Amino acid sequence: MSFRWLPVSLLWSAGLLLLTALPSLSSAWREAFIVAALGGVLLALYFARRMHARCNFLRQQIAELNEELETLNLELTRQQRRRLTLIDGMPIPLLICDENGMLCHTNRAALEWFGFRHMTGKSLLALTFSYDLYLLLLKAARRQSSVAAEINFSFPKERTTEATIWYLGEADSRHLFAIALIDKSELLRLEQVRRDFVANVSHEFRTPLASIRSLAETIHDDPEMPPQTRQRFLSLIVQEADRLTRIADDLLTLARAESMQPVKEVFDLTPLIQQAMQEMDAEAQRHQVSLQAELQPDLKLLANRDQILQVVLNLLSNAIRYNKPQGSVTVRTYVQDRQVVIEVADTGIGIPSEALPRIFERFYRVDKTRSREGGGTGLGLAIVKHIVESHGGTVEVESEYRVGSVFRVRLPLYGDSGDWDAQQE
Ligand SMILES: Nc1ncnc2c1ncn2[C@@H]1O[C@H](COP(=O)(O)OP(=O)(O)OP(=O)(O)O)[C@@H](O)[C@H]1O
Ligand SMILES: [Mg+2]
Repeated sequence: MSFRWLPVSLLWSAGLLLLTALPSLSSAWREAFIVAALGGVLLALYFARRMHARCNFLRQQIAELNEELETLNLELTRQQRRRLTLIDGMPIPLLICDENGMLCHTNRAALEWFGFRHMTGKSLLALTFSYDLYLLLLKAARRQSSVAAEINFSFPKERTTEATIWYLGEADSRHLFAIALIDKSELLRLEQVRRDFVANVSHEFRTPLASIRSLAETIHDDPEMPPQTRQRFLSLIVQEADRLTRIADDLLTLARAESMQPVKEVFDLTPLIQQAMQEMDAEAQRHQVSLQAELQPDLKLLANRDQILQVVLNLLSNAIRYNKPQGSVTVRTYVQDRQVVIEVADTGIGIPSEALPRIFERFYRVDKTRSREGGGTGLGLAIVKHIVESHGGTVEVESEYRVGSVFRVRLPLYGDSGDWDAQQE
C-alpha cells in the first residue's frame, strides 16, 4: 500500500508547488497550494516511514528464512554423509549409477573388488567389463523397478555373483539405480566340495560292498565249492568288511576333528613320539624300513594328546607304507619361530609335484591301487590337516618323486600367550 502512495503524495506536492509558480495565481490560492503541498510532503514522510518499517520486517524475515535454510542444508549434508558412510561401510560392493551406466557413487568394497581407486564419473561397462551387468541395468531402467540375476565376472578374477539392481528415483533429471553384488563363488565351491564328498563316500563304500556281495553269492550258489576256496572267499569278505569299518572310523574321526574343539592338556612330546614309534614298529619291520628319532627333550604341548598321537601315527604309517625296502624314516622334533615342529622324513617313493597340492584332500590317493592294497582309505592326511588346524597349527610337505618326502607339523609352543586362557577353559 505504502509503496504506491509514497510516489503519489510526492507527485501531488511537486504538482502543487509547480502551480504556485503561475503568475496569474492570486496570493490566497498560492498559500492554499503551498499548505496542500506541505500536507503532501508530510503524507510522503509518513508513507516513507511505513515503508522503512515494512522493509525492516521483510529483511528480518529473509534473514530468518536464510538461517532456516542453512540449518536444513546442514542437516541434509549430515544425512547424506551418514548415508554414504553406511553405503561405504557395507561389506558387499554397492554401485550407484544412472540409466546409462554412468557411476555416481561406489562404496569401498566395490573399489576393492574391481581394484580401482576411483570409479565415480566412469562407465559401469568400462570398469566392470561385464556386458551382462550392463544389460541387467538396461532392463531395470526400462522397468524402473528391481531386477536380479546371476552374473559371472572374469575381471579382475573369476566370480559368480547374485546381482540385484533397484531404482532409487530421479535426481538432477537423471534416473538413479543401485547395484549390489553378492559373491556366491565360495558358496558354490563348498556346494561342489559337498557333492564330491558324498560321491566319494558312496564310491568308497560301494567297492567293498560289491565285493562282499559277489563273494557271498558265489559261496551261496556253489554248495560243492572246495573248502579251501570257500575259506579264501570268507577271509576276503572279512577283509572287505574290515575295510568298510576303517572307512567309517576314519570318517567319524574326521567329523569329530572338524566339529569339536579339542579338549587340551599339557604333556611332554617325547614320550608321545616314542609311543607312536613303538606302535608302528611291527609295521616298519614288515616293510623292512628302519625307524630313527632325533627328539629335542622337554618339549611341552598344550593339545589333545590322543589327537596329536593320531597325527604322528598317520604320518608314520604313510612314511613306512610308501617307502622302499631297506628305506628309513626319521622323526625329528625341535622349536622354530616359537613353534614346535614335528618332522617325519622318509626315503620313500616320493610324491609327484602335480599331486602335492591335492594330497590333503579327502580320499585323494596318488596311486589308488597301492594305497588300497595297503589298506589305505585316503583319509589319513585329511585327518592330520584338520586336527593340526583345529590346534592352531599348520602342516606342510616337501617331496621329491622317487627320492622321499618330509611332512612338517607346526604347533603353538606351550607357554605362548593364549595358552593359559585355553587351559582355564
Ligand atoms: N610319505 C609319503 N610318501 C609318498 N606318498 C605319500 C606319503 N604320504 C602320503 N602319500 C600319498 O598321499 C595319499 C594320501 O595319503 P593319506 O594318508 O591321506 O591316505 P592313504 O595313506 O592312502 O590312506 P589312509 O587313510 O589309510 O591313510 C596316499 O595315497 C599316497 O599316495
Ligand atoms: Mg595314510
